[in-house]
Amino acid sequence: MSILPFSKISALLAAVGLVAVAALTMPDIEGRTRLALEILLAGIWAVYVLQLIETLIVERAGNVRDRMPAIAVDMLAVLVPLAAYLSTGTPDRSLYCGIWLLKPLRGSTFFRLFGRVLVNEARNLIGVTSIFGIVLFGAALAAHVIERDVQPDKFGSIPQAMWWAVATLSTTGYGDAIPQSFAGRVLAGLVMMSGIGIFALWAGILATGFYEEVRRRDFVRNWQLVAAVPLFQRLGAASLVEIVRALRPRVVPAGTVICRKGETGDQMYFIVEGRVSVATADPVELGPGSFFGEMALISGEPRSASVSAVTELSLLTLYAVDFQMLASGSPEIADIIRKTALERRSSNLKA
Ligand code: CMP
Repeated sequence: MSILPFSKISALLAAVGLVAVAALTMPDIEGRTRLALEILLAGIWAVYVLQLIETLIVERAGNVRDRMPAIAVDMLAVLVPLAAYLSTGTPDRSLYCGIWLLKPLRGSTFFRLFGRVLVNEARNLIGVTSIFGIVLFGAALAAHVIERDVQPDKFGSIPQAMWWAVATLSTTGYGDAIPQSFAGRVLAGLVMMSGIGIFALWAGILATGFYEEVRRRDFVRNWQLVAAVPLFQRLGAASLVEIVRALRPRVVPAGTVICRKGETGDQMYFIVEGRVSVATADPVELGPGSFFGEMALISGEPRSASVSAVTELSLLTLYAVDFQMLASGSPEIADIIRKTALERRSSNLKA
């Protein structure tokens, strides 16, 4: 746990610092403005020194392997600009603050997720990249053969033609090298079409990879939450997998009203952590492992009471359609839920 809000401000400071670095490359920025920007960079650097101290000393309790990326980024953010300022004869020293581009990577869960997607999809990505390389070389070779006599300055060698092939295959088309012959133009059309296909494949692989990874992560998290609800421990492996997929986790702050008396309700809740208060005539508190909201879900009647969070809650939500699935997969659990609903209803009628 950070004692100062470094993690929140470090990426913001990097953005401010990089704007200052960009401004310092403009020749019209001179005199006091230039000095102010350099002081700003020095200030950001000083904050990064404090962040590095915190990472190395204060947060040393954590797992070193997990903290390694943060340590590496924090060290580079301090040492690279320092080395540039200490070494004489280094031109444009402020440019070395460009290393702060790495700061947003520090501690970001997105980049960790992205890394896992790249690792998981490595085979497919390498496959498509190989196709890209084959088409690229083939296009450069064909363009060289077709156009070398007409435009020797642009297509005289395969490396020269390669620049045209990259610009065409990526459908960028700078327009500095254009095939003149009919055959060259047909080739260009084919290369452009292949480019669109290859980029679509890359995008598709990455999109599927992200989807799979997020689903896997959600599944593992839900699995841990479901394991904390004793009722589900009666489920067989197949039903457990189905229920883990059907339940949606939710964190609710203390004091939140989760359902109000008289409202229609199409979902019920399982408490993983925390306590709720049920505002019946004789108010009841429910804790971890209990469930609520089942009465409206089963009977289709309005909510029988308002339920609010006494403490912060970790809940698992089950929708009516998924309850049907649970009922068919494991009737035993559905019976317990139905029986509890009946008992609660009769105890409310007595009160
Ligand atoms: P529902 O009627 O959908 O919404 C309010 C919920 O409060 C209700 O489902 C039950 O889950 C819960 N509830 C109602 N009465 C009682 C009770 N007497 N004891 C425990 N929980 C109750």
